[in-house]
Amino acid sequence: MKKKMKVVLMSTVIATSGVFIIPGQVLEPTTVLAAPGQSEAAHDQKVIAPISEKRMYADVYHLSETIGPRVTGTEEEREAASFIRNRLQSYGYEVEVQEFRIPDKMIGHLQTSAGDEVLINIPAGSASTASEGLTAQLYDAGLGYANDFTAESAGKIALISRGDFTFQEKVENAYAAGAVGVLIYNNIESPGPLNPSIGEASIPVGGISKASGEALIADVVRNDGTVTLKVDALTDVKSQNIIATRAPKKGNNHEILHVSAHFDSVPFAPGANDNASGTAVTLELARVLKSYPIDKEIRFVFAGAEEIGLVGSRYYASQLTEDEISRSIGNFNMDMVGTSWENATAIYMNTVDGKANIVSETALATAERIGTPSELVLYQRGSSDHVAFHEVGIPAVNFIRREPGTANLEPYYHTPLDTIEHISTERLKEAGDLVGASVYQLIRK
Ligand code: BES
Ligand code: ZN
Repeated sequence: MKKKMKVVLMSTVIATSGVFIIPGQVLEPTTVLAAPGQSEAAHDQKVIAPISEKRMYADVYHLSETIGPRVTGTEEEREAASFIRNRLQSYGYEVEVQEFRIPDKMIGHLQTSAGDEVLINIPAGSASTASEGLTAQLYDAGLGYANDFTAESAGKIALISRGDFTFQEKVENAYAAGAVGVLIYNNIESPGPLNPSIGEASIPVGGISKASGEALIADVVRNDGTVTLKVDALTDVKSQNIIATRAPKKGNNHEILHVSAHFDSVPFAPGANDNASGTAVTLELARVLKSYPIDKEIRFVFAGAEEIGLVGSRYYASQLTEDEISRSIGNFNMDMVGTSWENATAIYMNTVDGKANIVSETALATAERIGTPSELVLYQRGSSDHVAFHEVGIPAVNFIRREPGTANLEPYYHTPLDTIEHISTERLKEAGDLVGASVYQLIRK
């Protein structure tokens, strides 16, 4: 929905902070044209007016609902990458597909003898099973203390509750007692299966939800049933970054600005906010900024493999030459900018060192100029792709919506509830306006 920008009517022409307002005139954003030397506000409007919240919402829908979870290295992540590439090419960009290898992945399946499928996460470090899987009875080992095991646990798959001590110790206790596999269930409600992290294990290990653990105790342990656990290692898995570049026509020594967002998600999460939101906003900025003259190079970087530890963005940064790094002036990273969770009223600007930089300062000044409704908070935090830029010396900010004061993320984060239902078009637009006008401020002629 396009908002008409009503300008206050005054009896004389007023000039406040460089914004000239002509009495009686209602400015329609799409009609604002900025010539060189015109006001900052007019320049802002050149970017803000054409940003379409409908298009961004449709792109979040496509990525999260049509494609769904886009787990690193899967067909769905690849499908998202080609969607992004096609779109950027349709806008007229030169697009680079940057492929890279990711660490081997463990894939698991769990089925009861009654034929019920149980959602399971397999940690890196788990052993694999034979291709037909491991079929065994379950042993209810409580919290998995050494003395929770008896002679009866030998040859069975230990079912252990999360809590009290580490996943690794639970696995070691089960192995010492002769268990042939371990299933760890959550001790708090969660819509997806537990993601236990362990070191190396000699037996297969998986994580399941609290509800699944309790159901297995009631339906399988009590009835002496069995389960079949299959764990496979996927080797030689690839992911990719998609990069659209636009440089000024003349010269080859321009400063470079990187605008980034990751498009992969965690398992079982449609990743509407994390991070179809940032992806959709970045795509829209690529569309809008395509037509204006620039005097710096701009790169739109869509990173894969963020959720397994910033692998895509670190690969991108590792491929930059010394010269490109020295010409890089900043990175605007958007990750989780579209949640409708009502408490997330602030836009946090996360920097790795907690200090302001050219990106955060530019955004702050832009927010004042354009009247961004949300409070902006400078905060020290890594955990997203801005870290990879920071590590090679490029000033970087991660823009992310949080609850002011607590810095809490929405409750749907990394769960199957991270869906289109919890996306706000107004907030997508707010992020697009803020980052788009800031970027344009830095790159325009
Ligand atoms: N979208 C989140 C961003 C984020 C930033 C979450 C700051 C929490 C705090 C990101 O995709 C994510 O989940 N990051 C991981 C770490 C990453 C290195 C795998 C996280 O914070 O658990
Ligand atoms: Zn994310």
